[in-house]
Amino acid sequence: MSAKKLTGNEIRQKFLDFYAQREHAILPSASLVPEDPTVLLTIAGMLPFKPIFLGQQPRKYPRATTSQKCIRTNDIENVGRTARHHTFFEMLGNFSFGDYFKPEAIAFAWELSTKTFGLPPDRLVVSVFREDDEAFAIWRDQIGIPAHRIQRMGEEDNFWASGPTGPCGPCSEIYYDFHPELGDENIDLEDDSRFIEFYNLVFMQYNRDAQGNLTPLENRNIDTGMGLERMAQILQKVPNNYETDLIFPIIKTAADIAGIDYGKSDDKTKVSLKVIGDHVRAVANLIADGVTASNVGRGYILRRLIRRVVRHGRLIGISGEFTSKV
Ligand code: SER
Repeated sequence: MSAKKLTGNEIRQKFLDFYAQREHAILPSASLVPEDPTVLLTIAGMLPFKPIFLGQQPRKYPRATTSQKCIRTNDIENVGRTARHHTFFEMLGNFSFGDYFKPEAIAFAWELSTKTFGLPPDRLVVSVFREDDEAFAIWRDQIGIPAHRIQRMGEEDNFWASGPTGPCGPCSEIYYDFHPELGDENIDLEDDSRFIEFYNLVFMQYNRDAQGNLTPLENRNIDTGMGLERMAQILQKVPNNYETDLIFPIIKTAADIAGIDYGKSDDKTKVSLKVIGDHVRAVANLIADGVTASNVGRGYILRRLIRRVVRHGRLIGISGEFTSKV
């Protein structure tokens, strides 16, 4: 089976349908303005479910699936310079609230990746938390991944938390190999010219307090995240997330306004076009969720993003107002 070329919209729908067929309630994306007071913006698909994971709210459904609008600004300086850093992105997720746990989450993720999306199994490498022998054994014995393609990684990479305190747990990630011809020796998942992490399965089972102590949550939960833009890059066989159908039309519009051709542009111009392509999505979605530009908090983030769009427009020769067109 070979990977299927799908549009971004088709990928989103196939993900949600796959989990709906497995008894997950499809829920709408929550606002980018979170109810959680500990963060300025919705930074992950799990954020709207944090009170359920912590046992502060009853669950309405044992299983849910979403495509959540997210914004992270910690990587803003990398936007446009790497193949896959963004401010705004969509995180596809499946969630279990005290229902299924590791064996089912891993089996679902594998079936979705290899059957629904048709990714060849020999192009996939997985990681597990160093001490998570259980996840390692599930990948090896239940799924049949050769042991050398299951990498054990440390806390920094494979223990996920939504912040310094709160729900957290070991995680297991699925990576796609763009260069299998380099062989199975010396697999280095940090090498992002070869590998892209596209699916993170978090085994959400602890609460971390301000002193760093881990207490088991009442329930063992599942929180996962698949980057829609990353899956689109893989399935559309383009060199970076920006050239997917989710972002490239914005880049094309900006290039047309500037009277330039993206394909023939130098690297610096491409970076500016990619920054515009990325930030415009963040700006439009922040405004749609009711944020207005200001000098503080979320309003400042919006103002900074708009300023950067305008600046990069100027750098590629656009004069006058253009943001409403892109
Ligand atoms: N919360 C995890 C992440 O953001 C999985 O969704 O990667």
